[in-house]
Amino acid sequence: MSFVVAIDGPAGTGKGTVTEILSKKLKLINIDTGAMYRCVTLDMLNKNVGLEDIDKIKEILDTIKIDLEDSKKVILNGEDVTSKIRSKEVTTLVSQVSSIKEVRFAMAGLQRKMAENMSVIMEGRDIGTYVFPTADVKIYLDADVEERAKRRYKQNQEKGIDMSYEDILENIKKRDENDKNKEIGALKVAQDAHVIDTTKMTIKQVVKQIEKIIKDKQKQIKLLERIYSIRPETKWKKFVRKLTKGFLSGLYHIGYRIKINGKVPDEGSYIICANHINYLDAAAIVLLNKRMIHFVAKEDLFRFRILNWLAHLFDIIPIKRDMQDMEAMKRCLKTLKSGELLGIFPEGTRKGLEKTGKAKNGAAYMAIKTGTPVIPVGIHGSFKPFTKVYINYGEPINLKEYQGKDKEKIDEATKLIMDKIVMLTKKEN
Ligand code: DC
Repeated sequence: MSFVVAIDGPAGTGKGTVTEILSKKLKLINIDTGAMYRCVTLDMLNKNVGLEDIDKIKEILDTIKIDLEDSKKVILNGEDVTSKIRSKEVTTLVSQVSSIKEVRFAMAGLQRKMAENMSVIMEGRDIGTYVFPTADVKIYLDADVEERAKRRYKQNQEKGIDMSYEDILENIKKRDENDKNKEIGALKVAQDAHVIDTTKMTIKQVVKQIEKIIKDKQKQIKLLERIYSIRPETKWKKFVRKLTKGFLSGLYHIGYRIKINGKVPDEGSYIICANHINYLDAAAIVLLNKRMIHFVAKEDLFRFRILNWLAHLFDIIPIKRDMQDMEAMKRCLKTLKSGELLGIFPEGTRKGLEKTGKAKNGAAYMAIKTGTPVIPVGIHGSFKPFTKVYINYGEPINLKEYQGKDKEKIDEATKLIMDKIVMLTKKEN
């Protein structure tokens, strides 16, 4: 899987330096896309190809070989051009070259290829907006133009490149103008980019800030992987689940006086819909049932390690709240299609009916869509230790007569399910 950090911004904002430090610190492959446009420009200068000569430019693009493997060296067609691409001639022409449509398409293609299945940090102008609009992290570095010119002047002096401060300032201003007005891949701030003004910041401060953003994102990706990765059913998983189920249901029987009325049929696909008092009721249904029930639970549950382990052991389906979670829906439908049991709290959250007065219609929707009967369950009890807890299973409800995509019909079916559940919560025998 690839991981892409896009660092965009105008010339002289410190993109190059910051990117190099971060690539080493975080073991990301460093791709300086500006160097690639400089290589095309140098090749054109070497071959005396003008800006208008599109056919010759295309020839160059077809055969050009750019190697940025070692972030310090730039190899163009086998030759080390690291300092040549920073020359005044290249710097003056590169912005115009990078405005040519054919050049942009070719370079963006190359850049995407370079990042395939890699973890990269890519600096340029249009990485977060055009080359990788879905980059994992987008940073936009900015700074006052005079400050940027000063930095570039100092950098050039260190590299032995002869260009006056005035020339650099003029050149940067021109390039800014040109970069921002390109037909394709213009320099602009991506909507979801973190904008950092580096005018008064040291390199160290900028690095620290970006490093934190990247690390937070990596943590978030890991967490999502932990939640959403599907752990396949194995003999070992079955064995551990059996042991865990035995142990936890034993604890349940010690902690509460459980009374179960009715049951789930031994075979066939059903949607188990229950009222939701607290976290212990879902566990009661799963643990005290002979058959495996794939319960749907909000993804927050998976954030705690031990609960995450248990949730994967019992194949709980994570669902994102407050949005239509298509992935969760697909997993639910797959469960029903394979003849298994799906568990849902139509209230959506604990004591949902009390809080919102409205049940969610996902269960009814899936029941109608797949023709699966719903088993209403009423749970009654305070869940205080050693008190009675009633789990009352009702008769399966067939929702065939509600078929059709009509939202009103689904709402009606949801109401029917909830009414049955509420009736069952009152039954104490
Ligand atoms: O970052 P740099 O100064 O080495 O970039 C050289 C030129 O290349 C710059 O004028 C803008 C252009 N460029 C671009 O258009 N798109 C990129 N992704 C990177 C650079």
